[in-house]
Amino acid sequence: MYFWKPSAMPVLSVICDSSEDRARTGRDRYGYKDYVFDWKDLVKRDDVDLVDVGTPNFLHKDVSIAAMRNGKHVYCEKPLALNAKEAKEMLDEARKRRVVHAVGYNNRCLPAVVMAKNLIEEGHIGEVINCRAEYLQDWAISPLVPMEWRLDKKAAGSGALGDIGSHAIDLARFLVGEFEEVLAVSRTLVKERPISELSMLGGGKVSGKDVSGRREKVGVDDSVEFLARFEDGAAGLFHASRFSHGRKNTLAFEIYGSKGSLVFSSESMCELRFYSTGDAEGLQGFKTIKMGRQHPYGEAFWPLADSGMGYADLKSIEISALMDAISGKGKVSADFEDGYRAMLICDAVIESADTKEWVAIQKGD
Ligand SMILES: NC(=O)c1ccc[n+]([C@@H]2O[C@H](COP(=O)([O-])OP(=O)(O)OC[C@H]3O[C@@H](n4cnc5c(N)ncnc54)[C@H](O)[C@@H]3O)[C@@H](O)[C@H]2O)c1
Repeated sequence: MYFWKPSAMPVLSVICDSSEDRARTGRDRYGYKDYVFDWKDLVKRDDVDLVDVGTPNFLHKDVSIAAMRNGKHVYCEKPLALNAKEAKEMLDEARKRRVVHAVGYNNRCLPAVVMAKNLIEEGHIGEVINCRAEYLQDWAISPLVPMEWRLDKKAAGSGALGDIGSHAIDLARFLVGEFEEVLAVSRTLVKERPISELSMLGGGKVSGKDVSGRREKVGVDDSVEFLARFEDGAAGLFHASRFSHGRKNTLAFEIYGSKGSLVFSSESMCELRFYSTGDAEGLQGFKTIKMGRQHPYGEAFWPLADSGMGYADLKSIEISALMDAISGKGKVSADFEDGYRAMLICDAVIESADTKEWVAIQKGD
């Protein structure tokens, strides 16, 4: 609808969910032609060219690799896998096949983020000196929030770090550059939770009391803070937490350079704040730039600046790039190599929190 005419038009062939009821509802609700409830049936089908992997994290590797082995393009949600070792297996498979591979680091598609990247690359803030990036939520604060895959190490890999912190890590790689080393603190603030069938973010609810009587140990971090050094000498401060009251879903960064600064928060998704030492001395101060037609992707969205955008719009930008890549006319916004590099950094953060030492980021290959 936004990017008309798209370089390829997706056809909704088959939807899969292990719950047959959800698979059937998904087919009817979104207009798929068919549904299955075993992903192994989906990845083999002739009427599927692209597999969109939106399962819990522990399935990303097996589904993606099976899809690529069947010649399918893959669009896998983040974090790419449970750890860097798994992510590397996925990247190796992708490199062997002539398929497009994308990972859902959709925040790279935000017009204000792309504008920030352009301003940095054009030298408007000079050399980057330091950055601060955070991704904060508050849904897990109550100890009555039930156990779910996102709180289970075997299913999620890590907690706030991989789930939301990896978005901040990915943006820092996108905007500032490669990480050299990290020093981290990680905490699990609620150590046991009641058992429930439904995930909170998948429609489950806090019951108000612990009805099951049974509890399970939480295996992942609720909150992580870490320092980083970048390869080019810049330094960074990162924070990912599900325990930040009032922050429902806030991704924010500040980048300070030798000639200016950039400030962004997803709470005002269509704004970028920019300070330039190039402004006349008496007129220096942060200006708030409202994203509009003349900004990245603006022509697809807005006749007038300041008309707002949301998460679904962001996904449509990501899918448009994916369609361009499949048609050989462009690149995906983030690929499996980006997914793998984010996992290398997450693994180093986990190791550092454990050892209380600086940990160098493996170079990877
Ligand atoms: N890019 C983003 O901004 C973003 C946002 C939210 C979630 N995610 C990612 O999307 C993925 C899913 O998260 P969610 O919030 O939708 O989780 P969810 O729990 O709401 O939904 C997961 C779905 O997977 C289904 N499922 C579980 N096991 C399955 C199997 N074996 N075969 C088929 N289906 C199966 C479940 O029935 C459920 O419907 C995660 O990797 C998450 O990190 C990314």
